[in-house]
Formats: sequence, C-alpha cells, structure tokens
Amino acid sequence: MAAYETVGVVGLGTMGAGIAEVFARAGLAVIGVEADPAALERGRGHVQRSTGRAVSRGRLTEAERDEIIGRVTFAGSLEDLHEADLVVEAIPEVMGLKRALFTELDRLCKPETVLATNTSSLPVTAIAATTGRPGRVVGMHFFNPAPVMRLVEVVGTVVTEDGVAEDVAALARRLGKTPVRVGDRAGFVVNRLLLGYLNHAAALLERGVASRDDIDAAMRAGAGLPMGPFALLDLIGLDTSREICEVLFQETRDRVHAPAPILRELAAAGLLGRKSGRGFHAYDGAGRDTPGTAPGGEPFAGTVGVLGEGAEAFAARLADAGVATAGPRDAGLVVALSPAPVVQHAAGLPHPERLVGLHLVGEEVAEVVSTALTSPGTAEAARRLVRGLGLTPVACADRAGFVVDALLLPYINDAVRMYDSGYASAEDIDAAMRLGCGYPAGPLETLDAIGLRNARDGLRALYDEYREPSFAPAPLLDRLVTAGVTSVRSR
Ligand code: CAA
Repeated sequence: MAAYETVGVVGLGTMGAGIAEVFARAGLAVIGVEADPAALERGRGHVQRSTGRAVSRGRLTEAERDEIIGRVTFAGSLEDLHEADLVVEAIPEVMGLKRALFTELDRLCKPETVLATNTSSLPVTAIAATTGRPGRVVGMHFFNPAPVMRLVEVVGTVVTEDGVAEDVAALARRLGKTPVRVGDRAGFVVNRLLLGYLNHAAALLERGVASRDDIDAAMRAGAGLPMGPFALLDLIGLDTSREICEVLFQETRDRVHAPAPILRELAAAGLLGRKSGRGFHAYDGAGRDTPGTAPGGEPFAGTVGVLGEGAEAFAARLADAGVATAGPRDAGLVVALSPAPVVQHAAGLPHPERLVGLHLVGEEVAEVVSTALTSPGTAEAARRLVRGLGLTPVACADRAGFVVDALLLPYINDAVRMYDSGYASAEDIDAAMRLGCGYPAGPLETLDAIGLRNARDGLRALYDEYREPSFAPAPLLDRLVTAGVTSVRSR
C-alpha cells in the first residue's frame, strides 16, 4: 500500500483551499499551487479564515492552527510538485484547461505519483488519456465545504491500475472521510442525483410554482435537508452548477439536466452565489445570507371549512387551536386536504375564491396551495392560519406534487434507476447523499419511509402534469410495487 506523505493541490479556489486544509489537518505536508499571485493569496486567506473559524469555535487551539498552516507551502509554480506522492487538481471545470494541466503534471511529477482530479462531472478517463500514466490517474471528488462534508468519491476508470483506487480510498479514510468507489460516469453518484433536483427547483421557481424562499423553506423544514436548493446552488456556485448540468445533459440528453434558463442568466451576469456575494440570495461580507423582511405576525381570524381526506381530524386540530370551523359553503376560508388539482373542489362552492389546498409535509410544513380562482386575501389568511398552528407555510400553485414531492420524488426515482443500472449499491447511494450533502437519510431510505406505492403513484401524477419522461416511475419501482415488495434495499 502506498504511503502518501507529501501531497500537492493545484488550484486554491474554494474547493482547492478546503482540500489543502483537510490534508494539512491530517498531518500531511501540502504543496498548494496557484500560478497567479493574487489567487495564491486568496487561497492562503481561505485556509487562514477557515482554520481561524475553527479556533473561534473552540475546535482547534492557536498552536494547532499554526501547525496546520505551517504544513502548507503556498507555491507559484507546478515545478514545486516534483516531490509530491499524490497531486489533486481543483481548477475550473474546463476540459481544455484540465487536459493541459495533466499533460504538464505528467511531465513534472515523479513517475509513481498518482494524479487525481476533483472534477465534479468531467470524464476522468479523458483526463487520464492525456498523460503517459493513465493507470495512475483517478478522480478524488470532495464536497463543499471540504473540511466539513465527510464523503469522498473515488473514481476509477477502465485503465486504472490495480491498487491505485484502493490506496486513494485508504488516504480518504486517513483524512477522516468515507470513500465511496465509483466508475467514471457523468456526475458520479452525488452530482448525478443532486443537480437534477437543484435544476428542477430552479425550473419550478421560473414557472412561478413557488417563490425562492418558500422552496428553500419547504426543503429545509419539510424534507429535513440542511439547506434549501437555492442556498445550496449559491454554495456550489452557479457557474459550476450550470457546467455540471451541461455535462449531465450531454450524457443523458434528458431535459431535466438542461440548465434552467434562470441558472444560465444569473451565471452569465456574474451572480455566481456566495463567492461573488450574490446569486439566488444576497450575502454580506461574512458570507451570511441577507434575508428579506420577516412575515407579518397577525393572527388568523374567521371561520374555516375543511374538505378532503382527513377533514375530521384536521377540523379537530383547528378546534384545539381555538379556530372556529363552519361548513364549506359558509366558511370565510375553505381548505381542501387533497392532492392537486385542488381546484376540483371549487365546483359547487358559492365562493370558490375562498378555497385553498393544504398539504401537511412532516411535522413542520404546510403547503398552502392557491388555485387559479383563489383570491390573494384568501391565500394570506391561509398562511396566517398555518402560522397560528405552529407550522411553516409554503405558498405554491396547484400543480402535482406541490413543492416538496415535486422535488423529492424525481430525485428518489433517479436513485432507483441508478441502483437498477448496477452503477452503485443501495448502501453506497444512501451513504453518498448522507455524507456528501448532509441529508438526514439517503434516497432509498427515504423511499422506504414514504412507501414504494405512494412514491410510484406520486411520480405518475408528476409525469401526467409535467410530461417529463424521467418523472415516469422507474421500471424497477413499478415492478416492486406490483410484487408487493416494500423496500428496494431489502432485495
Ligand atoms: N469551511 C469550513 N468549515 C465550515 C464551513 C466552511 N465553508 N461552513 C461551515 N463550516 C463548519 C462550521 O465551522 C461548523 O463547524 P463545527 O461544527 O466544528 O463548529 C460546521 O461546519 C457547521 O457550520 P454552521 O454551524 O456555521 O452552519 P450549519 O450548521 O448551517 O452547516 C453546512 C453548514 C455544513 C454547510 C450545512 O448547511 C450543510 O451540510 N449543507 C449541505 C452542503 C452540501 O450539500 N454540500 C455538497 C454540495 S455538492 C458538492 O460540493 C459537489 C460538487 O461537485 C458540486
């Protein structure tokens, strides 16, 4: 087994500087290279800030921080990498740049040095082919923020020499990370599943199904994710996100991967997310989101009529909260507890403008669904009602899946397809999403919790509404439901 003691990192942007810090924290000697002196200083600043933050949180002492920074040599030339046992490339996702760099690294590094790329989605095989040592070129894919996220995808190719991917996986473990070994396919496990979801969130925003803040809140509070999709797109960078979508689209030709126009537009305008101070959200100098105005706190007043499945239990909940209920024909606000289209309940109501849909998601969120007939006053009254029940309201349009299911189910469907293709095991898919993105559960675990039949039926409704071919239930999911199987993971 190879012992890597000196490692190089080329490119000290957000990811490269984070990777350099991770190596230095694990006790390795690090040579961080940036050709441009200003970028080199930014990289140094990044490591100083990140370790400084750990000191201020009591995670590191000043002395430990000095030691960590002391292990990193900030260099301006690739020639300095001659002694490195392993070099990780973290430069922009432009194939031409990567190929030129690897040709150069191949010339300058010792013949036994392993060359790794942190590419998010470009083909590792094509990068390896530019060197005279394709068997010693692998993907070593970290997740942002690199010091925090515990996953490393180790990508081997058809020409990777025996033992190389194993050695890199062992190194990842030494860094305190969990490696998942995968083959060379666009997006690997995480980005293949993540970017379709993020791009679809941008598409829902563009179609006006819900607002930026409502979608972010829905996925945080409703699905338990650490960040909403727009906050996460801003963290990854809108340029990087757009590029990954482009690469995925080239491979899948699936419209859900074609970058949403709003993503292209923001990226073209230089609104790249956190790193440029503004993307979907705006950030202050310390990188914190600058939120809009908080919602008003006026309590709900009036009577509520309840329709749909579970109406009795919900009416009882309203009564417990001190809200007066009335028949749907007389109530000031009518809530329908049904899937889309909610508007079907409008027929026969004397005041269809008083109707909203209400969809409870988990313990914390209620999607508040405006139909084509709902008046703005009714939607606002429903939001107040929901807040009064201690729930987060998510305003959305009367579309299949509303917000949470519309985003979660296609992602789960993609995970089932990935599993069925044999690309990765159920355990690896779940671990990758938990450790790479901080999800509370992997997609196949979430599928079990939702129930295979519910997921299949939800996907059918989504397909009927949006007509996206990839929203049609994965054949495996369909077959398992037919067979009465309750878990993909137990097969
Ligand atoms: N650098 C270093 N450390 C950081 C950091 C950064 N940029 N941001 C946060 N941290 C550390 C904090 O210091 C803190 O550490 P301690 O617990 O040791 O004190 C810890 O992370 C938690 O931070 P906060 O309390 O400030 O914030 P939080 O609880 O809201 O967590 C988060 C922040 C870790 C980023 C969390 O929101 C999260 O897990 N988000 C999901 C991120 C994600 O999905 N990443 C993958 C993106 S995909 C990708 O990267 C691949 C690709 O190719 C595009």
